[in-house]
Amino acid sequence: MSKMEQHLDSTLEQILELARWAPSGDNTQPWRFQILDPRRLVVHGHDTRDHCVYDLDGHPSQLSLGALLETMAIAASRFGLAAQIARRPEAPDARPTFLVDFVPAPRRAGDPLADAILARSVQRRPLSRRPLTPGEKSALTASLPPGFGVTWLEGRQRVAAARLMYRNAKLRLTMPEAHQVHQAVIEWNARYSADRMPDQALGVDPLTAKLMRWIMRDWRRVEFFNTWLAGTVAPRLQMDLIPGLACAAHFVLTAQRRPQRIDDYVAAGRAMQRFWLTATAQGLQLQPELTPLIFCRYVRDGRVFSGTPGMQQRAAELAQQGERLVGRQVWETAVFMGRIGAGAAAAARSIRRPLNELLVGPPAEGG
Ligand SMILES: Cc1cc2nc3c(=O)[nH]c(=O)nc-3n(C[C@H](O)[C@H](O)[C@H](O)COP(=O)(O)O)c2cc1C
Repeated sequence: MSKMEQHLDSTLEQILELARWAPSGDNTQPWRFQILDPRRLVVHGHDTRDHCVYDLDGHPSQLSLGALLETMAIAASRFGLAAQIARRPEAPDARPTFLVDFVPAPRRAGDPLADAILARSVQRRPLSRRPLTPGEKSALTASLPPGFGVTWLEGRQRVAAARLMYRNAKLRLTMPEAHQVHQAVIEWNARYSADRMPDQALGVDPLTAKLMRWIMRDWRRVEFFNTWLAGTVAPRLQMDLIPGLACAAHFVLTAQRRPQRIDDYVAAGRAMQRFWLTATAQGLQLQPELTPLIFCRYVRDGRVFSGTPGMQQRAAELAQQGERLVGRQVWETAVFMGRIGAGAAAAARSIRRPLNELLVGPPAEGG
């Protein structure tokens, strides 16, 4: 037994077994754990900005790391422990590193959100259009830490948000840079996937999934279908327009200021996870819709994200549409966006890498 495994007592093991179920973009799980002693560990984060067009400046990965840390803190509360978390400022931005100490908190009650950790999962299929009740909305609003707010898009705004997502999907499906990502993150013919997203969790019917798989093997096929056979229409209807209409509401989570630094995104990820777990606890289903916010940020920062002519212009139009939908203040301070509603839990889902694959030793010198 290695020294690190000796430190993994049953309490720490149970905390980490729960924490690893935190959500991450494309199920990348950008975290590894180095155990220092039974109540202390280092979370080594990483991001995918060098090969994933969506992971702009690593911000989506930082949201995921926030979700992981929040889940860890919630799980620890079950054992009468509080998680004290300090980011190591000397670690490079692309490798965020956190020291976590679990300290006794005997007077603090266990966080009831712990019961929702395993049940929480993305649901990309149509949901009920039943509006959220005032009770559901106030529980969701109350779940957010101070400084964060939620804007609901219901009724006609729900329809406008569905249209925004339909347009956003065209950008995603006609851009070679995104195609590369999609090829890498989908596990085909799968109901569960430990390190990617199973195709059955994507929200398309089996025939469309089969066709998508065949087309996506080769970018020239994608281009041909897109140009001559309206290839993006079936997947966009099934993955974006129909689910975008079939939900109670879309929502935007906002921070007090426009997020800029890594700590802003980690804090936003913590808020996102509390919101999502609360949705689960209320029997609601949720799907993140992060990509319009990412494209909008590329546009705002004047950064080119695609070698294909016309993509930047399309993203600029998308950004304008988003701003018209929610107003400038909300759009500029948005940290997360999604759709929500009552419905059955997803029948297919991403699972996780086993804990032993996530445990690491100290980083190599100079590495
Ligand atoms: C920061 C972040 C961004 C995400 N963005 C999207 C998105 O734009 N569209 C989507 O369908 N799912 C999105 N997801 C959901 C993940 O793909 C999903 O959480 C992950 O595959 C794990 O699956 P699970 O939530 O069912 O456990 C996002 C998740 C996170 C944490």
